Amino acid sequence: MAEKKVTKIGVLTSGGDAPGMNAAIRAVVRTGIYNGMEVYGILRGYSGMIDGDIFKMESKSVANIIQRGGTILKTARCKEFFTYEGREKAYSNLKKLGINGLVIIGGDGSFRGAQIFSNEFDIPCIGLPGTIDKDIAGTDFTIGFDTAVNTAVEAIDKVRDTADAHDRLFIIEVMGRDSGYIALHSGIATGAENILIPERRTDIEDIINALAEKQGRKKLVNIIVVAEGEEFGATELSKIMTERMPEQEIRVCILGHIQRGGAPTCFDRLIASRMGYAAVECLMEGRFNVFVGIVNNRMHYIPLDEAVKKKQKIGEDWMKIVKILSS
Ligand code: F6P
Repeated sequence: MAEKKVTKIGVLTSGGDAPGMNAAIRAVVRTGIYNGMEVYGILRGYSGMIDGDIFKMESKSVANIIQRGGTILKTARCKEFFTYEGREKAYSNLKKLGINGLVIIGGDGSFRGAQIFSNEFDIPCIGLPGTIDKDIAGTDFTIGFDTAVNTAVEAIDKVRDTADAHDRLFIIEVMGRDSGYIALHSGIATGAENILIPERRTDIEDIINALAEKQGRKKLVNIIVVAEGEEFGATELSKIMTERMPEQEIRVCILGHIQRGGAPTCFDRLIASRMGYAAVECLMEGRFNVFVGIVNNRMHYIPLDEAVKKKQKIGEDWMKIVKILSS
């Protein structure tokens, strides 16, 4: 049962934006109001909490946003929140308004901040995993991942058309600072010949041998999908490979921030809505300082401090699929 009653919730988005964050905000606001709570929007993540950029939200504040990318609350990465003084300022702003519960939509760094804040000032915090990278253990999906992957797939399909017309090798870089999930999913879904991710060491000899073997049997169109956080990155890889295979025409395409924008997919809207609803339930039931995940299509509640320690692992079987299916 609840240790204390949460009556006023603050909601914020923090870190890199992710499509579906608006759907999550909408779910928090409307579920909170339905249950008789007041809900406050905090602008620009923890920065807005420190600056006191906080406003009361009504049901209509979140009308017509479920289909929009970005975040109506704006977002930021806030260095000041790493300091005790910053967090103290943030707390005093919440206190002035009587806010006694927080929902933080963001990645593991944002959860780390929430955990510390909640320990220091006894404000219950609930995290919702919002990041295109899907780099948080304890949930099968994060808000924004599905949209980002679909954006990448659409772009890679287009690149393949031109690669095919010219018999070229394309190295396509997708986002993922520490995580190869966007690369892995979009690469498999587009039939990429190779997928390079930060979780695994890249063996350039292996890539070159495989390409030579493919050239030998006249398989001339090749797509290599590289995660941004992989040890070489697309530009460096292209340089090395051009030196080693001067006869090969290589082009680089870096997809960049287009993967972060756009209308969220149905899947992202759905998980964001379910997670936002569950976050308010957690605050009502006294299930504090957890983040909401979905595992095997069921809601899971993971302590915030565990979320910050773990990273997902990418199993050997994934790479085997890539190798066999792209042969
Ligand atoms: O964490 C999401 C992400 O899109 C990463 O994949 C990428 O490395 C990073 O954010 C880019 O951050 P910024 O928009 O601050 O350059």
